[in-house]
Amino acid sequence: EKGGYKHFMHKEIWEQPRAIADTLRGRMLLSEGDVHFDTWNLAAEQVKSFTKVTILACGTSWHSGVAGKHMIESLARLPVEVELASEFRYRDPIVEKSHLVIAISQSGETADTLGAFKEAKRLGAHTLAICNVIGSAMTRESDLHILTNAGPEIGVASTKAFTTQLVTLYLLAVKLGRMRGTLSVEAAQEHLTQLTQVPKMIEDVLKCEPQVKRVAREFMNAQDFLFLGRGPMHPVALEGALKLKEISYIHAEGYAGGEMKHGPIALIDEKMPVVVLAPKHPHVAYEKIIGNIEEVRARGGKVIAVIDEDDAQADSLADHVIRIPAASALLAPVVATIPLQLLAYHVAEMRGNDVDQPRNLAKSVTVE
Ligand code: M6R
Repeated sequence: EKGGYKHFMHKEIWEQPRAIADTLRGRMLLSEGDVHFDTWNLAAEQVKSFTKVTILACGTSWHSGVAGKHMIESLARLPVEVELASEFRYRDPIVEKSHLVIAISQSGETADTLGAFKEAKRLGAHTLAICNVIGSAMTRESDLHILTNAGPEIGVASTKAFTTQLVTLYLLAVKLGRMRGTLSVEAAQEHLTQLTQVPKMIEDVLKCEPQVKRVAREFMNAQDFLFLGRGPMHPVALEGALKLKEISYIHAEGYAGGEMKHGPIALIDEKMPVVVLAPKHPHVAYEKIIGNIEEVRARGGKVIAVIDEDDAQADSLADHVIRIPAASALLAPVVATIPLQLLAYHVAEMRGNDVDQPRNLAKSVTVE
């Protein structure tokens, strides 16, 4: 059932164009500039009355929440707080009836997320679950649920669940923006048009695998990795580091580029590979991230830069480049995640690790 792949994770990485197409199917109303979710039950008045969104999640799903914050704030102009579900319910959180609380979970069963979600509901918030598993606890506990439609994810390291969460959050941001009147029909149409291109873009970016494998071979024995990204690329950096940790057992940290000078720069020496997410957008502070590349190089660190395919400037600065198709600032996280998944996969595979069943980890963390 691995369809010719050695591991489920590899298969699931390659399934992403199909998974994302399934997430989008039937939901984009291009001519109306609107989004249709068949479960949707919120009236415009209610959506307009929301004063805040709180996102609850763990692990990879928390990373998609951080990216979702950028999407919802930018398109629906609602303030979004992203909380680690494991912290939320032990700290007397502020929850009001005017808050929309979103739980994001592949399994829909994660104990911390479910517990926090129930607490938010008890305190009177309106609850929305974004899950991959139909009929899971969170979909049953919520006022409203939206499925990510990635299909079953077997590998413990989450891949297609993450990218389909990102796309679902993007659709949700467009929907909220339209209902709140912060997004015009034309602007929504533009966002939806971009979304239709994502499956093809993922197909294209998967072609970087041979290049990623070369990078994996060179750095498979590194002891530490740093991942840097700014704005919407920050959660991608966090996700790249988590993937590598989980399956290769190499220590890795994800940082917002601007934080480098405030500590992690002390770690950089000639043994330290630094993966820099540098698609060319003002929203991801391209010029500043180029500055980060120069700072790493000046200290002898090895830069692996993920860049737009036509970017000659970053190309000339980095030790290795991985080229990705140019995408809008809010979609670049989906595209840039793919080479990081492949990097983690190939490093782990070259180290002979059990990729689908990494040590100490469970697919679904149903105890606290
Ligand atoms: O099923 P969930 O999305 O609620 O799971 C949350 C985390 O346990 C999960 O994302 C975990 O971090 C993965 N192993 C990441 O690859």
